[in-house]
Amino acid sequence: MSRPHTAPDRSFDRIRAVNWREGRLRLLDQRLLPTREEYLSIDSASDCARAIRDMVVRGAPAIGIAAAYGVVLAVTARHRQDPKHWKQAIGADLTTLSAARPTAVNLAWAIARMRDAIAGAPEGDPVAEVLAAARRIHEEDVAANRAMGRFGAELIAPGSSVLTHCNTGALATGGYGTALGVVRAGAASGRIVHTYANETRPWLQGARLTVWELMRENIPVTLIADSAAAYLMQQGKVQWAIVGADRVAANGDVANKIGTYMVALAARHHGVRFMVVAPTSTIDLDTPSGDAIPIEQRPEAEVVACGAQRMAPEGAAAWNPAFDVTPAALVDVLVTERGVVHAPNLAKIAAVMKHPA
Ligand code: MRU
Repeated sequence: MSRPHTAPDRSFDRIRAVNWREGRLRLLDQRLLPTREEYLSIDSASDCARAIRDMVVRGAPAIGIAAAYGVVLAVTARHRQDPKHWKQAIGADLTTLSAARPTAVNLAWAIARMRDAIAGAPEGDPVAEVLAAARRIHEEDVAANRAMGRFGAELIAPGSSVLTHCNTGALATGGYGTALGVVRAGAASGRIVHTYANETRPWLQGARLTVWELMRENIPVTLIADSAAAYLMQQGKVQWAIVGADRVAANGDVANKIGTYMVALAARHHGVRFMVVAPTSTIDLDTPSGDAIPIEQRPEAEVVACGAQRMAPEGAAAWNPAFDVTPAALVDVLVTERGVVHAPNLAKIAAVMKHPA
């Protein structure tokens, strides 16, 4: 008897880490991946801020989307407590959410959009209206990722291999991903035949999350130690390095996961093209250059240990910046949902931001 033929899923878009269900925010707990797949159910703005701070949800766009739903939780609670004065009371919740992590500008951007939704919400029952605003942020992000995936993949010659850093996929966004969106689109069109993932010490977003995500989609991936990236390029194994961003300054400097700068330097030396994939919600015209981007410092404990296993001697000092800044001069292309910016600079970034959404 012949088996029914099921076509392989070539959309490569089956993972959602942030969703809203029955009045609660559900977050796939990324601290537990890849060994456990568990969702946390969040029902207050303060728990949402804690989940962002503790890396239950991480990745610039995903942080913004989670915070937008966190605002919905705040509106629900404040309106229930005091239907007349809830708009004044909610300021404290917005401050708590905004302060959860400093570098990804998508957080401040999403809170600003939700502030506008609150201003326009009816006094009667505001929840449906602010929830619609949060859902729009989420849906727009997925649409932006799909557009960037197409634009980015078109730049890559068929049969290429690429290197990526950190996790920029469905887990880091509303779905599909930024740099991993390009990998998804490139895998679907045959332009990208292989992806190397930096492990991304100390949180191991590459080893734990990117490799899990690509294996889940049946996209070929090989894990490397961060320290192998320059040698990989010297061996001619990749044609592109493709990364996301937590904040792009007005002049095109890019803050992204610690180690990105090192990848960009090695890429320039070896003639490997360096692509940054970021929606316009990650571009911050109020930050003139990379020097002005606040860089999150995380606990020493994350460096002296690997998971539960202590690596360095008791009492060892460690420095743990979570992000670094790649100067615009090292970026070959910046891919946004509005199009591709070659050799980004102040004028080209201003032009892309003027373009209507
Ligand atoms: O500390 P994280 O895991 O939140 O850092 C994430 C990154 O640096 C990503 O590269 C960036 O947010 C872009 S994700 C689409």
